[in-house]
Amino acid sequence: MFSKAFSAAIHGIDGMIVTVEADVSDGLPVFDMVGFLGSEVKEARERVKIALKNSGFKIPAKRITVNLSPADIRKEGTAFDLPVAIAILGAFGHLPEESFKDILIIGELSLNGRINKVNGVLPIVYCAMQQGFKKCIIPMENSREGAVVEGIETYGVSTLVEVVKFLNDEETLEPLYIPREEMFKDISHKESMDFSDVTGQRAAKRAIEIAVAGMHNILMIGPPGSGKTMLAKRIPTIMPELSFDESMEISKIYSIAGMLDNQGLILRRPFRSPHHTITTTALVGGGRLPRPGEVSLADQGVLFLDELPEFQKNTIEVLRQPLEDRLVTISRLNGTYVYPANFMLVAAINPCNCGFYPDRNRCNCSINQVKRYLGKISQPLLDRFDICIEAIEINYRELAIKQKEENSEEIRNRVRIAREIQMNRYKDQSIYFNSQLIPRTIKAYCKLDKKDQDLLEEAFIKMNLSARAYHRILKVARTIADLDQSPQIKSKHISEAICYRSLDQKYFGTL
Ligand SMILES: Nc1ncnc2c1ncn2[C@@H]1O[C@H](COP(=O)(O)OP(=O)(O)O)[C@@H](O)[C@H]1O
Ligand SMILES: [Mg+2]
Ligand SMILES: [Zn+2]
Repeated sequence: MFSKAFSAAIHGIDGMIVTVEADVSDGLPVFDMVGFLGSEVKEARERVKIALKNSGFKIPAKRITVNLSPADIRKEGTAFDLPVAIAILGAFGHLPEESFKDILIIGELSLNGRINKVNGVLPIVYCAMQQGFKKCIIPMENSREGAVVEGIETYGVSTLVEVVKFLNDEETLEPLYIPREEMFKDISHKESMDFSDVTGQRAAKRAIEIAVAGMHNILMIGPPGSGKTMLAKRIPTIMPELSFDESMEISKIYSIAGMLDNQGLILRRPFRSPHHTITTTALVGGGRLPRPGEVSLADQGVLFLDELPEFQKNTIEVLRQPLEDRLVTISRLNGTYVYPANFMLVAAINPCNCGFYPDRNRCNCSINQVKRYLGKISQPLLDRFDICIEAIEINYRELAIKQKEENSEEIRNRVRIAREIQMNRYKDQSIYFNSQLIPRTIKAYCKLDKKDQDLLEEAFIKMNLSARAYHRILKVARTIADLDQSPQIKSKHISEAICYRSLDQKYFGTL
């Protein structure tokens, strides 16, 4: 007897339908599984056999062959346990085959027949819906991940027995559905953090607003306690709210990483702050079973690297590719995996080992020590930061004064307008933000009139700027003009943009 069930595998951040065929024939009682399987999938044999027995199903001693197709994609993980068990039950006649012919099934089996959660449920259910499946059966613990997908009925299950009962008689389970609008309404900016928590720091806040508006990477230099971490953590609160598509993209990544915690969708922009001991693989993704790294978990949000010089040099250097492409490509013998990595890079550094350079009352570091400390950051990486600012310690008196600080919503509203201007300007290009401009497009979109051209040239010579710095100044000036809702870049925009370069001259250039 032969029977067929449907399941899915993950490739990159998308699901792909996998057919699970089971055949039962006379002959030596062996259980074979074929179809380009990873080691966990091969082990499904043992789990399925014992789970079936412990769930009360009699499996006669026959030859069982299970084939997972298509054969050219590698199947990994434990999510095929349940569809394999169902296909076998079909082949033995315990279940009518029509009962699961249009249902997508995933789940890991315990030896006692319980169904455990698996990774990647959201992209799988999404793919099933797109492929026209009407129903899906997924682990109860993942049920919210499936329930946010519209156009397919999602059934959460806890045991194999429950699944068999359901397939024999539809009435036993209710589909779960979570209306999207309500999820999005619920968050309605009940943020726990807000920019109004930060006293003073006008200049830093302004620079951050510009950075977010144009998606420019930003570097903050300043002594310990000057509020660098505090400012960084609040950056996602001034980014525009996530659209449904953005939320879906991030949620797929978290689902695959097993980090969705059954919350359905990620509704807030991510803020990822990996420790400086992080490995290259954990940062950019990869591993034997490819997994998204921090750069992908920060997709649509912020990747914060605190104490940048403390990171391993080679770990940091691998960031250059995702920063350039806004995605990560991982090559394996069995295929190439692509993960989104569209994040804003925010980094903080102390100016020296002790942290207080150039305050000579507190810092005894020699110029050479300071040089060596900051020299850990390579020029090419430094070049990725369009904006550099100094975080200055505010004094106790300033902290004590309760002046009214602007809140995140007010800043976010300005950011949104600047972003809409960029979207309109670049609607025929494949870019969204000023930070994505390249020399050719800078020429087209960042035109200056004669006197501003002169101003910039003068600074160029006086500050001994590189061609790269020149382009970055123009991109930032474009964003400042957009925040000002000015179609033309004016002198004041250029002057302000130059300020955000002069700092890395102070710390990195003239030492
Ligand atoms: N501008 C500020 N307004 C309010 N609190 C501040 C400010 N700057 C620093 N603090 C306080 O000092 C603490 C240390 O700041 P932190 O962001 O950790 O500094 P850094 O990362 O530069 O070492 C913060 O948690 C906050 O309580
Ligand atoms: Mg800090
Ligand atoms: Zn020092």
